[in-house]
Amino acid sequence: MLKNIWYFGVASRALQPGKLVHREICAQPLVFGRTGDGTAFALQDNCPHRGAPLSEGRIKGDQVECCYHGWTFGTDGKCTTIPALVDDDPVDLSKINVRSYSLREQQGIIWIWVGEGDGANVPVPKIPDVGDKPPQIVHALDFDVSIDHAVVGLIDPAHTPHVHESWWWRRPGERREKEKKFVPSALGFDMTSHRASSNSRIYRLLGGAPQVEIAFALPGIRIEHIRAGRNFYCGMTACTPIDENRTLTTHMMWWSMRWLTLFRPAAMPFVRSFLAQDQAVFVKQARGLRWNPALRLTGQPDQQAKWYFRIKNEWERSAEAGKPFENPLSEATLRWRT
Ligand code: FES
Ligand SMILES: [Fe+2]
Repeated sequence: MLKNIWYFGVASRALQPGKLVHREICAQPLVFGRTGDGTAFALQDNCPHRGAPLSEGRIKGDQVECCYHGWTFGTDGKCTTIPALVDDDPVDLSKINVRSYSLREQQGIIWIWVGEGDGANVPVPKIPDVGDKPPQIVHALDFDVSIDHAVVGLIDPAHTPHVHESWWWRRPGERREKEKKFVPSALGFDMTSHRASSNSRIYRLLGGAPQVEIAFALPGIRIEHIRAGRNFYCGMTACTPIDENRTLTTHMMWWSMRWLTLFRPAAMPFVRSFLAQDQAVFVKQARGLRWNPALRLTGQPDQQAKWYFRIKNEWERSAEAGKPFENPLSEATLRWRT
């Protein structure tokens, strides 16, 4: 699990005022909430007194109160009140705190910094074209595999004809040779603009000749951006480790076409079934991985997976050396049959 990087934390709309939300990220228990003025915060979800989850407590103004003995904490994690102490008790509250996490809220997403410091030097992932609009669709699933397997499953083109074959996406048994150009980006690689594959019926609904860009970036963020005339569609899939063996995968969609919004209720089953297909194959794969088999990434269809491991290792290496990350990849063209 990569450290010193921004992870997708929680969708903005999941954090309602006054509510505390428990999450596990990188094997840490977290509580997310909003203060009275709407500012999002995240703390370690263990009271430093006797360990009760703070998410079982409540928000009082801009403080979080533990459910067990009422210790309260600011959003910076500092203990502000221990109600059972008498006024002249010498306990020093300034020595008591719970870990607080640096967050950025933008475009309907709350990103969380997992690592040292506050992440000010590392860019937060940005969705093109959408301004600060929240997504029209948010759908999240837990995958029973490590973030590495989830990410590789996300950028692996070769599973598509086997796992995602369905009447609304492509014709059964159809395979064509694909050639895609890739360029390195700040934290990953971009598949540069090209005509959308003509075997995708969904793309035709957009109108015009669509241009597609797919950006992949650490720690496991894939952004698909389609432009057709004045319209755009953006899909983001973000992987966040729950722990070593489970990964939260959140899919979000934005679009500019009003008519598409009318179809949102009809679109949801397709989104669900698409991700459920990935989820089902991960369950099968996890069964095989229990035996710790040797794995073999092979040829151009697996090249993006190899790039992922290469930039991930480089990210860790440069963080350890205290140096800025330099992307080790160079421009390349890949070919495969899907
Ligand atoms: S466990 Fe939280 S106040 Fe005691
Ligand atoms: Fe998939």
